[in-house]
Amino acid sequence: MIPLRLGVLASGRGSNLQALIDAIEAKTLDATIAVVVSNKPESMALERAQRHGIKGIFLDPKSVAGEAQPRKAYDQKILEVLKAHDVQLVLLAGYMKIVTSVLIDAYQWHMMNIHPSLLPSFPGLNVQTQALDAGVKISGCTVHFVTEGIDEGPIILQTGVPVNEDDTVDILSARILEQEHVLYPHAVQLFAERRLCVEDKKVRILELTS
Ligand code: GRF
Repeated sequence: MIPLRLGVLASGRGSNLQALIDAIEAKTLDATIAVVVSNKPESMALERAQRHGIKGIFLDPKSVAGEAQPRKAYDQKILEVLKAHDVQLVLLAGYMKIVTSVLIDAYQWHMMNIHPSLLPSFPGLNVQTQALDAGVKISGCTVHFVTEGIDEGPIILQTGVPVNEDDTVDILSARILEQEHVLYPHAVQLFAERRLCVEDKKVRILELTS
């Protein structure tokens, strides 16, 4: 099987990118990372890409500052990079910019995000603070397809983790992150196996056919 070509958009630490790289190297994920794009030059994700011989590109958001619709113009630049690298599935991995219809339409049901809560609870930012403030007993992580509403797209996979009474944001984040690193490669592998089917805004996971 020809490996699925991934494009990863990341802004920061890149631990989810690393989990994907590790799964590919361990051959539990039939994919190849064609390109990593970051909006931050200092992103650890770019460093991780370089370390593994993966093409990493910093695209400066300031380069489109004079455009009438800078966010769309920026996404157009990303789209050109993704297309030039024959990317089939786009993965947001700690990407701290809102993606516009330019990318979402071009990659409909071909773009995923990972979020550190059990969506639809706690979308947006400061997610673990929201969870701790609400006093939930279970939190977790979600992989979902990207649509225009922030953290709103059809849910692909979720994993729950317990929330303990003495948890801090850092402790809860770390517990969730460990599960993210398992969940994201798993969701991408289901995509690679063509087992994800979106019907009526819900994702159905098809049985593996031999
Ligand atoms: C993760 O918690 C992810 O769920 C969220 O941003 C964080 C990124 O972490 N979207 P990393 O850059 O992958 O280490």
